[in-house]
Amino acid sequence: ATQLHPDVESVVLSEEDIRGIVTRMGDEISRDYAGRNPLVVTVLRGAFIFTADLLRAIKVPCEVDFMAVSSYGNGVKSSGVVRIVKDLDTKVQGRDVIIAEDILDSGLTLSYLIKLLQARQPNSIEVAAFSVKDIEGKQPAVEPRYVGCHVPDAFVVGYGLDFAERYRNLPYVGILKPEVYS
Ligand code: PRP
Ligand code: MN
Ligand code: MG
Repeated sequence: ATQLHPDVESVVLSEEDIRGIVTRMGDEISRDYAGRNPLVVTVLRGAFIFTADLLRAIKVPCEVDFMAVSSYGNGVKSSGVVRIVKDLDTKVQGRDVIIAEDILDSGLTLSYLIKLLQARQPNSIEVAAFSVKDIEGKQPAVEPRYVGCHVPDAFVVGYGLDFAERYRNLPYVGILKPEVYS
């Protein structure tokens, strides 16, 4: 069994869970995008580990590029402003774009990115979200075409997800102990 990090309260998704989820998402994308050479847009930093696994689960030709945005900074709450830290190098016009995100929380980051990339006239644009946070009484602002799993409304870390840049390297997804950030 994985040794639990002392700052983590409980495991939400084990390495085995994650493998199953990503394999299934890769199968779905492979089925839908055969012959379309989709451009997978990784949203750095959080999505880099998910994208690395997802790309290897996609069994049809595809390309990848990277974009860095940040809305949380070092806090636990979104700043409400999405900042582009690095833009794509690839031309989006006419492409079938798949945005790969680690988590959909308030939806601010993805709504912003979709709007931004839509303006570059892709042929299509869809979202592959590894996780979607379940918030009671709230409909997510974005409906991803591919959803890996739902996670509870708690501060989750690991598998790319950070708190103040830490914990991204945990191979599982876990709930951070509240005393770590309060
Ligand atoms: C996190 C996460 C998503 C976004 C989700 O990124 O990786 O990109 O927040 O939250 P939202 O739906 O409320 O916008 P963050 O801004 O922390 O940057 P990072 O990926 O570099 O950690
Ligand atoms: Mn992010
Ligand atoms: Mg973050």
